[in-house]
Formats: sequence, C-alpha cells, structure tokens
Amino acid sequence: MLDVTDLRAGYGDAPLLFGVGFSVGAGEVVTLLGRNGMGKTTTVRAVMGLIRPRGGTVRFAGDRIDGLPPHRIARRGIGLVPEGRQVFPNLTTRENLIATALRGGAWTLEQVLSLFPRLAERLDSMAVLLSGGEQQMLAIGRALMTNPRLLILDEATEGLAPLIREDIWRALARLKQAGLAILLIDKNLDALIRLADRHVVLEKGRSVWTGDSAALHADQGLVRRYLGV
Ligand SMILES: Nc1ncnc2c1ncn2[C@@H]1O[C@H](COP(=O)(O)OP(=O)(O)O)[C@@H](O)[C@H]1O
Ligand SMILES: [Mg+2]
Repeated sequence: MLDVTDLRAGYGDAPLLFGVGFSVGAGEVVTLLGRNGMGKTTTVRAVMGLIRPRGGTVRFAGDRIDGLPPHRIARRGIGLVPEGRQVFPNLTTRENLIATALRGGAWTLEQVLSLFPRLAERLDSMAVLLSGGEQQMLAIGRALMTNPRLLILDEATEGLAPLIREDIWRALARLKQAGLAILLIDKNLDALIRLADRHVVLEKGRSVWTGDSAALHADQGLVRRYLGV
C-alpha cells in the first residue's frame, strides 16, 4: 500500500534523510523506531508532502505521490496524527471533527465517539480546554474523519497518563482489527511489539533494520544499539 524507497529530504540546506526505505501493506501495522533526532518525524513529513522529498520515491496504492501537495496526499487516503497533536484550539471538539470530514466514507462523528466515548462529553468544549489525552483522541478522530486507508501516528501517547495511554492502545488495536493499515511512531516498545506486525529502525536518516515483533524482541543488542533502551 505505502512503498517508500531511498527517500531523501531535509530542511533548508541541511540534508537529514539519506535513504529511508520501508513499506506498509494493506491492514498491516508497522512502526518507525529510532532514538530522538534520527529522522522519524522528518520521514513522516516527507511522506505527507509537508516537506518536499529531494530524492527517492513514495508510492501509495501503486501511484507515485512524492511531489504532491499535502491535501492531495491526504485525499488519496493517508491520515496523519501529527507530533504534538495540533488540533484547532479555538474550535470545539465537534467542529474539529467536522472540519476534516471527507464525504463518502465509513467514518462518521458517531463512530469516532463510539471509539472514544470520552469525547462525547466534550463535544461542545473548545479543543484548547480538553485534557492532553482528550486532545490526542480528538487528533486521532480528526484523522479518521478523512476516512484514511493508512493512518500515521507520530508519538500519539507522548506525555499522557498511563490509563489514557491504555485507552489509545486499545483504540489502535480496534482499528487494526477493523483492517486499517497503520504506521506508528512511539517510545513504548512493549506496546509496539504487542500491536505491530513489523518494525523499521532509523539511524541518522537511514533505515538500517526491519523485522517482525519476534525478531525485534529476540534481539536485545539491536534494541540497545539503536533504541538506547
Ligand atoms: N524544522 C526543522 N528545521 C531544521 N531542522 C530540523 C527541523 N525539525 C527537525 N530538525 C532536525 O532534524 C533531525 C531529525 O529530526 P526528527 O525527524 O524530528 O527526528 P525524530 O522524529 O526521529 O526525533 C534532528 O536533528 C532535528 O534537530
Ligand atoms: Mg519525532
């Protein structure tokens, strides 16, 4: 579904990605791993067209999407839950969800509320007044309202209380069960190993390892070397 080969990108004159390659199949959950600053967010931003790739290719459902503007990439079926959530602070929960809704798909306001019942009680609150966990649920709900075929989450449990994190992991497991393809960035390795099918390790802007959860779990040297755990 998503095929990234030899992706190169950076900001200004500074190259940051020197060859990132990975794929996410239909219904598959794949993680991007690596210590801080290794290029995970930059990879996601290049895939979404938020920064322009300088080399390599990004294919989605068979078509080249590198070079397309972000809204066209989103419309093809990639939903992003960005690092830092970035909900619209002065819109209500309901307005945030409706703002990104694309017609003709399965996800409705009701379905987002059934995935995250806490949001039902906050529908008319401005997003800025929601807790961090509620804002994160809203950011995920907003991405789902675009009816993506692939959902990308960048540090979606960062800074959240353990019980709220569990709510998020449960929701992601439900999305996986429903057949959604997911690309995940997160620091909680145990939860990632439980949920994901495959993992891709980034080191200084390059993809250096890929394997399934059993292989990652078995290779503590790899975990120490590239993830610093
Ligand atoms: N907007 C930016 N302008 C310049 N450099 C940036 C910008 N954002 C991130 N960087 C740098 O890019 C490198 C990779 O960052 P990033 O992709 O955010 O890493 P990760 O998500 O793996 O922690 C880091 O060295 C970071 O300082
Ligand atoms: Mg990041």
